[in-house]
Amino acid sequence: MKAIRYHEFGSTEVLRQEEVDQPVPGAGEVLVKVAATSFNPVDDHIRLGVLAEMIPTALPITPGLDISGTVAELGDGVNGLQVGDPVIAMFPLDQHGGAAEYAVVAAGLVTAAPRSITLTDAASLPLTGLAARQAAVELAGIKAGQTVLVNGAGGAVGSLVVQLAVEAGATVTAVDGPQHADRLTGYGAKVLGPLHLDAGPAAVGGPFDVVVNHVRLGAEDLAKLTPYVADGGIVVSSAGPVPGDETRAVRTAGVWVRPDGSHLAELVSRIDSGVLELHIADRRPLAELQAVHQDAGNGKLLGKTVIVVA
Ligand SMILES: NC(=O)c1ccc[n+]([C@@H]2O[C@H](COP(=O)([O-])OP(=O)(O)OC[C@H]3O[C@@H](n4cnc5c(N)ncnc54)[C@H](OP(=O)(O)O)[C@@H]3O)[C@@H](O)[C@H]2O)c1
Repeated sequence: MKAIRYHEFGSTEVLRQEEVDQPVPGAGEVLVKVAATSFNPVDDHIRLGVLAEMIPTALPITPGLDISGTVAELGDGVNGLQVGDPVIAMFPLDQHGGAAEYAVVAAGLVTAAPRSITLTDAASLPLTGLAARQAAVELAGIKAGQTVLVNGAGGAVGSLVVQLAVEAGATVTAVDGPQHADRLTGYGAKVLGPLHLDAGPAAVGGPFDVVVNHVRLGAEDLAKLTPYVADGGIVVSSAGPVPGDETRAVRTAGVWVRPDGSHLAELVSRIDSGVLELHIADRRPLAELQAVHQDAGNGKLLGKTVIVVA
C-alpha cells in the first residue's frame, strides 16, 4: 500500500512516499481503510524530533494522529464493530499511522463516524476534539454562569473550546485575528482582537473565572495571562505552561491530549445534534503532505487542514 513515512527526524525533506506492506490487525485491533487524516501542529514537532524524549516513538514513522475511514478487517476478540462501518479514531501520541491507505488501531479507540458530515471531514475531529474536551470539561470544568476567556479561539482546538463553553452556559470572550470574528460570534461568543497582554484584564472585561490559552507564547508572555484569571479561578493551556498564583488560589493545568473512544463518541453525538461545528480551512491530497508540513512551518496554513487519502 501507499504510505508517507520518515526514517529519521528532520526538516520536511524527510517525508517520503513509499510502498509498504499492508498492516495486519492483532487481537483487539481494527484494520481501517483510511479516507483521511488531518494535520495537527504536534505532527511538525514530532517530525523535527523535539518531542523524541518526551514521546519515544520507533522509526520509521507514518505521520497522522487522526483517521477517518471504514473498517476493513477485525482482529480477534473485537466486538461491536463490523467490516464496512465508517469510523474515526485518534492514535496514541507514540503511534501514528494516518498518512497511509490502511492503518491498524486499537478497537477501544475507534468510534462510529459522525453521520452529519462527510467521512473525509470527520478526520478533523479526533485530536482537536479530545484536546478541547480535556481543556473545557476535564481540566477547567466550565459551568453555567462562569466567565471564560479563550485566547487563540479561532484555531482548531479553540473553536471547539468556545462552543463547549457556550454549550455549558458560560459567558465566553473569544480572542483571535479578525478573519475568525464572524464565525466566533456565530458560536455565541463576544469577540475581541489579539490581547495586548500588558494592558491587563480590565481592558477586555476581565478577570475571568476560566482562561484557556491556545497561543504558543514565550514563558514571559504566558506568565502575563495569570492576572487575567479571577481569584479562585483556573488557567488551562495547550501551548506552554501558564503559572498559577497560590496567593489568589488561581490553579493552572496543561492539556496533554490522549485518545479515548468514549469521549470521542460524546463529541460525535454533539456534531450530529448540531451543538458542535467543525471548521475546516482546507482539504489537500496525501501527495501534498510534505507541502502541508512546509506551510505549517512557514506559518502559511490557512487553519485546520484535512489530508485526503482516498
Ligand atoms: N498539549 C496538547 O495535548 C495539545 C493538543 C492540541 C493542540 N496543542 C497545541 O495547542 C495549540 C493550538 O492548536 P490548534 O490545532 O488549535 O492550532 P491552530 O489551529 O493553529 O490555532 C491557533 C490559533 O491561535 C491564533 N493566534 C496566533 N497568535 C495569536 C495571538 N497573538 N493572539 C490571538 N490568537 C492568536 C491563530 O490565529 P491565525 O489563524 O491568525 O494564525 C489560530 O487561530 C498549538 O500550539 C498546538 O501545538 C496541544
